[in-house]
Amino acid sequence: MKIPSSIWTLLIGIVLTLASLWYGQNHGLLPAAATDEAVLVDGLFNAMMIVSTGIFLLVEGILIYSAFRYRQRAGDNKDGPPVEGNIPLEILWTAIPAIIVIGISVYSFDVYNEIGGFDPHAIHEAPMSQESMAMPGSAIAATLSDTPPGTEPNLNQEKSDEAMQDPATAEVRNADQIPQLRNAPGVGSVAPTIGGTPDKAGKPAELQVNVTGLQYAWIFTYPETGITTGEMHVPIGREVEISMTANDVIHAFWVPEFRLKQDAIPGRQSEIRFTPKKAGDYVLICAELCGPYHGAMRAPVVVEPQEAFDKWMQEQLVASKETLNQAIAVNPTDLSPNEFLAPYTKDMGIKPEILHQVHH
Ligand code: CUA
Repeated sequence: MKIPSSIWTLLIGIVLTLASLWYGQNHGLLPAAATDEAVLVDGLFNAMMIVSTGIFLLVEGILIYSAFRYRQRAGDNKDGPPVEGNIPLEILWTAIPAIIVIGISVYSFDVYNEIGGFDPHAIHEAPMSQESMAMPGSAIAATLSDTPPGTEPNLNQEKSDEAMQDPATAEVRNADQIPQLRNAPGVGSVAPTIGGTPDKAGKPAELQVNVTGLQYAWIFTYPETGITTGEMHVPIGREVEISMTANDVIHAFWVPEFRLKQDAIPGRQSEIRFTPKKAGDYVLICAELCGPYHGAMRAPVVVEPQEAFDKWMQEQLVASKETLNQAIAVNPTDLSPNEFLAPYTKDMGIKPEILHQVHH
């Protein structure tokens, strides 16, 4: 019995579709999805993978089939049949990719929107400021104490005000220990916010973390408790808002498992929101070429249950008090910040090499 070609086409179509659907969801190319936002991004990626797999199999399948089926046989020296253009076919294979591309763009815009990427209220504008204009690359060592307070409202400042109420934190910062800029005014800048699902939009996130990027380290401050660390811990199921800035050059906050990336820019405040979902040890990677040690600019990120997070926070609080007590006892008025900081960098999880870089 000879099977009609329409049946063959149907069967091949079904097999191609099933194979594409399966591979598009089992490609194993992405790392763990550790946030709610990552799940949305993966949905988009998988949809594109399904379409790409289908097109790849179809095009390569026809190519390989034709190469065998219509190969030159022994003794055959004739010309091939003259093939003219085919207008309906041209229209069809122009229209299909156009529809696919429009579909993907609508879907990707939807995902971008869903994670809070297109929220006009999330744009912060700051007027031009003398300080930010004059800020050279050497502002790395600028600290809370030596940056004169600006007149513009400053998000970094507001968020760490509570932390500063704690005399311990204030002492440490004034002692030139933590090179975190006081002011982050923009040069007529906008800093878009990424992340945060719409149902939570407009509400403050449940956990604030201030992040400062500097050559070549990340420093995390938790305004609620005032602790400063070299690694970031976040609890599962609570929305986190990262407010970030940079002290010297542009860096980028990127945790592949979170599927979110945001530039940390000197003199600006940018934000990123996400809700951690999956416990694990991840790595924050700087994703902007920022100098010779850019490749080493990484920091541990730990997603853990609320109890473990609370316990860690308590330990940090105790450690910061002890560090401060030692610092006061030593009274290192004539030590350079480098020498002064050296004993404490280990507690903060900052490598001595990095500190050395910071100072220069
Ligand atoms: Cu910081 Cu690359």
